[in-house]
Amino acid sequence: MALAATLLRFGYPSCKPNAPAGTFRYSKPPTPAVNGVLPTINRSSWRCTAVATAIRWRGKKDVVEDEDEWPSYVTPERLDVLREMEPWVEEHVLPLLKPVEASWQPSDLLPDPAALGSDGFHAACLDLRAGAAGVPDELLVCLVANMVTEEALPTYPSGLNRFEVVRDSTGADATAWARWIRGWSAEENRHGDLLNRYMHLSARFDMREVERTVQRLIRDGMRVPGPVRSPLHGFVYLTFQERATAIAHGNTARLTGTRGAGDAALARICGTVAADEKRHEEAYTRIVGRLFELEPDAAVRAMAYMMRRQIDMPTAFINDGRHSGREFYDRFIAIAQQAGTYTISDYRGIIEHLIRQWGVEELAAGLSGEGRQARDYLCALPNKIQRMEEKVLDRAAKARNKPTPIPINWIFDRTISVLLPD
Ligand SMILES: [Fe+2]
Ligand SMILES: [Fe+2]
Repeated sequence: MALAATLLRFGYPSCKPNAPAGTFRYSKPPTPAVNGVLPTINRSSWRCTAVATAIRWRGKKDVVEDEDEWPSYVTPERLDVLREMEPWVEEHVLPLLKPVEASWQPSDLLPDPAALGSDGFHAACLDLRAGAAGVPDELLVCLVANMVTEEALPTYPSGLNRFEVVRDSTGADATAWARWIRGWSAEENRHGDLLNRYMHLSARFDMREVERTVQRLIRDGMRVPGPVRSPLHGFVYLTFQERATAIAHGNTARLTGTRGAGDAALARICGTVAADEKRHEEAYTRIVGRLFELEPDAAVRAMAYMMRRQIDMPTAFINDGRHSGREFYDRFIAIAQQAGTYTISDYRGIIEHLIRQWGVEELAAGLSGEGRQARDYLCALPNKIQRMEEKVLDRAAKARNKPTPIPINWIFDRTISVLLPD
């Protein structure tokens, strides 16, 4: 449920529509990394000062005080546009859901005692454990975060059901929008199941600690990014998130596979989830793309609104029992960057992709002054991120910090070394 904001708070992806917004922090400018890896944690506070944190920084000039703007996105006229889109959603979005009969299930990708019998199941579990044995700890930690945010699924349809018009108001609405929300949730539900079961069978995780983390995340909740009731803002966020999640799962597949850590089963699992996320990304991309056609000014302003603000990922709300909030999130971002499951380059790449996808650069006719401002802001954003990225990496190369081991309870307190500033 797996970002946002202009110089953005770099966030770890998840495909979920929930995360806080509107809480602006002006972090200090970047702190360097070392040896091409990311800088990370402040020795005194255990707060990361990684590249991730670096790109999270932004100047005040980037923030437009438009908190009062969002009610304009839920006026009756604007909401009618969404109502009138329903036949289009039926035709262009719902077909992206797969029928249950054609969908993979976790049992297809894991040892199945019903199919293998007792001895076969036991042997298959030993094979799975042998494959998992070589996966490095930093990848295991990223896998936990992916799994935990997938397992917090009950929170996410709640977010969508706060949006005007598109919500499933009864829990069984027949509208195309409502059927999409339920179908999407049902597909997502398999992701956490699959990752959870793999993790359980692999015996490489302290599952009780992981399970407690899931419970805390659902209990604590998350605030929907941007205007709580505005579907347009929510769909922008979801498009970003689904793409980011697909990238993260895909990177995990690549890094754990036969050319990486040698766990072919895990690579297949992550690759399968990534393919789902790509389909979901396509759905939200189409929806926002359609809104760019129908209301380009509103759409580009909504996209800029989301990018200017810092869209925290659901990962930002994880509490592992030792750290929560920014203390947890910053440390985790550094690990993810170091592991390569999701990097600042991925983040920048997503923004570039969405700008191209929705033709932001070509927008001209019909834009208001604010719309043109939003367009120009978005088009300048990737270069701004890249410059900061280069600056941080350059400073990192000059730094001479030594890695510091961080114990992680999800993996029995084994440590992950992160680079601390002097
Ligand atoms: Fe997703
Ligand atoms: Fe997912």
